[in-house]
Formats: sequence, C-alpha cells, structure tokens
Amino acid sequence: MTSGGDSPGMNAAIRSVVRSCAFHGIECYGINRGYEGMIDGDFVKMDARSVKGIINKGGTILKSARSKEFRTKEGRAKAHKQLVKAGIDAFVVIGGDGSFTGAMIFNQEYDFPVMGIPGTIDNDIYGTTHTLGYDTALNTVVEVIDKIRDTASSHNRLFFIEVMGRDVGHIALNVGIGAGAEEILIPEEDLGLDRLLDSLRRSKQTGKSSSIVIVAEGDKIGKNVFELKDYVDVNMSEYEVRVSVLGHMQRGGSPSCFDRVLASRMGVKAVESLITGKSNYMVGLKNDIIDLTPFDQAVKGKSKINMELLRVSEIMSI
Ligand code: F6P
Repeated sequence: MTSGGDSPGMNAAIRSVVRSCAFHGIECYGINRGYEGMIDGDFVKMDARSVKGIINKGGTILKSARSKEFRTKEGRAKAHKQLVKAGIDAFVVIGGDGSFTGAMIFNQEYDFPVMGIPGTIDNDIYGTTHTLGYDTALNTVVEVIDKIRDTASSHNRLFFIEVMGRDVGHIALNVGIGAGAEEILIPEEDLGLDRLLDSLRRSKQTGKSSSIVIVAEGDKIGKNVFELKDYVDVNMSEYEVRVSVLGHMQRGGSPSCFDRVLASRMGVKAVESLITGKSNYMVGLKNDIIDLTPFDQAVKGKSKINMELLRVSEIMSI
C-alpha cells in the first residue's frame, strides 16, 4: 500500500514488492487508498504482470490517502478484521513518518508483521539518506528554477521561490545550490530579515542584475513568500520583486533513474526481511547499503540537513 503524500518512485516500489513476492512464491494483494482502503477491505490481487509499465510513472497506481479513521482504535480494529478476512498476514507500507507511526501502533496492537519503505519528496525521515521521490523532486525543481531565472534576468527582477519540504529544508538547500540561488531560507537556520536585506544589497553592489531567493515552505524567518515580497518592496524599492510558489507540481512526474533503482532495492529488502521473520522496521539507504531501522527510531529520529551545504551556498553566492 501507499500512504500519505504521493511521491515519484512509489510505483517503482510497488512493482518491486509485487515482483519480489512473485519471485519467492508469495501471494500478493495491493491495498487501494492507503489505510482508508485497508479499513474498507479494498484489496486487489496482484501478480508480476499487474505492475508492468509502471516503473516510469509518477503518482501511485494504488492511490494514496491520509486516513483519520486509522488513527482511532476502532478504525484499526476494522482494518485488522479486513486483513484477517482476506488471509493477509503481513503488509508493506510505502509512505512517510505518519504512515509508519500508524503501522507501528498496528503492529503493537495486533502483533501484525509490517515493513516500511520511505516515500516522500521531503527527505525528512531518519534512517535513510534518501527517501523515494526526493531525487526526482530536486531535479524537477531545479529545472523550473532555471526557467524562472531566464525571465528574472530578462527583467532584472528578484524572485522569491517557495519550495515544498514541510518542516525541513532539504529540497530548498539542495535546489538552491543546484540552481545558483543568491539566498536560501530554511527552517533549520533563522537568518533573519536584516541579513536577507544585507545580502540583497550586496548582490546589487557587486553587479548582480537579477536574484533568486529560495524559501522552504516551513522557513522560520516568520514570513511567507508574499510577506517577504512586501517587506523587500518597502525596504528596497530598487528591486522589482515577484513570487513563485511551486506547489504540487514538485510531487509529480516520472521518477529519476536514482529513485527507480532505490525503489527496486527497497522493495526487495522489505519483502525478504518479512520472509526472514523481521517486522516493525523501515528499509533505508545508508552509505549505499539498504539497511533496516526500527520504526520507532525512524519516526522519532530527526533527519538532519548537511550544514556544510549552507557554507557552500554562501561562498557560491558571493
Ligand atoms: O509531504 C509531502 C508534501 O508534499 C509536503 O512537502 C507538503 O507540505 C505537503 O505534502 C502538502 O500536503 P497536501 O498534499 O496535503 O497539500
């Protein structure tokens, strides 16, 4: 099943889980609409051929949902009944930390074997250097910023570009460097508005005619992109400012080769770990090895941004 916000690479992971089951002679069902579908018994039998032609597709063929009902004891009891009725004796959930928390509680209540695959563009999960969809989202966003730069430089404009990432700045920091932004505002680091203005003034003085500022959606500078624009309009009239909020386009599109390979590796590991009797873990990438992290650590741990990147960005934007 896929659960929570969709991300590119989820289909490749479904394909991998289904084919790993087929390879090991295990009967496999897809659960539609995440935990909502589990509660409703919305299961579909899948074999190796059910997942043909999906490795390159964005989104998720199993659909996704954020289920409120599964957060209740009653909802989980209904889901358990449906699984038992269908003869399902283990499941793999592809999603983010909310989905893993649900799986962990379900495992505690019913001693039901579960395994997680991290799928989210935010890369905000402890126990893996990369979540599925993160690499694709970085490439999608960099491509779009390159396009915005064309118009920014044609008009000598300053652009505030808001990118996704929920409470973390992985996307902002990496696309900021990759697309050559002047400033990157992320939740992990409160630079303050004065520092932003200083930096923009310096940019003008050193002969930059246009500027790109990347703002993570969860940035703690205390202003959203439109308020930032107003602030600069008032305090630096020499800039003509525009705002671009990239939104959900960041979650779509065909997965990168990196995400397809990662999904394939993670799916194999998830199924083979269940076969060997392991449960309550998330599979993740660590030093190019697919490894397991207990759900409680994956959920409680913090995925840290690479502080070196902040310094690199500062030097690059001189
Ligand atoms: O977790 C993925 C994500 O796209 C975040 O980056 C963003 O904050 C959130 O989901 C948006 O959620 P929704 O699709 O419910 O608007």
